[in-house]
Amino acid sequence: MKVVAGSASVELARELTRDLAASAGAGFIEVAYEKHPGGFPDGERYARLLGPVSGEHVVLVQTTHPDPMIVELFLLADAIRDAGARRLTAVVPYFGYGRQDKRFLDGEAVSAKTIAKHIAVDCDELLTMAIPANPEILKTFPLPTREVSGMPAIGRYLKSAKVDVILAPDEGALRLAKEASSVAGVPFDFLVKERIDSYTVKIEPKALAVRGKSVGIVDDVISTGGTIATAAKELKAQGARRVIAACVHGLFVDNAEKNLKGLDDVIATDTIQSPHTKVSVAPEFAAAIRALG
Ligand code: R5P
Repeated sequence: MKVVAGSASVELARELTRDLAASAGAGFIEVAYEKHPGGFPDGERYARLLGPVSGEHVVLVQTTHPDPMIVELFLLADAIRDAGARRLTAVVPYFGYGRQDKRFLDGEAVSAKTIAKHIAVDCDELLTMAIPANPEILKTFPLPTREVSGMPAIGRYLKSAKVDVILAPDEGALRLAKEASSVAGVPFDFLVKERIDSYTVKIEPKALAVRGKSVGIVDDVISTGGTIATAAKELKAQGARRVIAACVHGLFVDNAEKNLKGLDDVIATDTIQSPHTKVSVAPEFAAAIRALG
């Protein structure tokens, strides 16, 4: 087995290789991401495999955010196939465009499906994590696709941070809070969120027993930080002693850092690298790859 990384996911792919080295004999194949120092002047991506993959089961790891990383994924998948790989598993830790899981307005593409269709050109199967949409969309993808959970990794972190309770910032994230709490061995609950627009949310003050407690809030994505900041404000108002936010995908766009100032800690996994990446989901993907058979 060989592991190849797009430039968005090098750290996670190296970690994954370490996890799969003993059990699956995995080795890491280096990639050159630039042909010329500084890249192409017009910003086009470049990717070149620097090792052989002929006859191998290759695991290609690449988050599809920001957009140029999608092109890199397709270039690498094609190069791996052309170089004679026997089997190609795409690990897309953060599946960009996952939110557009249906045609909201006439004339739109179902973008999540568009990306999946192109992955299916060269890849045999797809593993992804915490798709920010209805996971039912995965069943419509034209290649076998599995959503791997990142909550065990987050649950382990929150356990070591000694939180007393784990909360979801909305009912949609309740399944995440439930899973993380079973790993951390603490109770779970959820807050009631109403989204006003892309930047604003309202959290209803559902009375929770958080006074004097250390609270972990878990979500699939932190984007602008609006959801988590509003939830943390409500929890502090209800007497929480400490509020730690944990997400699978840390996008941290716009004023996220400013919005998250009131939190005692903000952590994200390595599906997207950021200064908040403190947890690796490599063990979760390694287990899913071993289970592929
Ligand atoms: C949507 O409901 C998601 O689960 C997240 O809560 C949302 O994407 C977070 O976005 P933001 O950080 O911009 O509030």
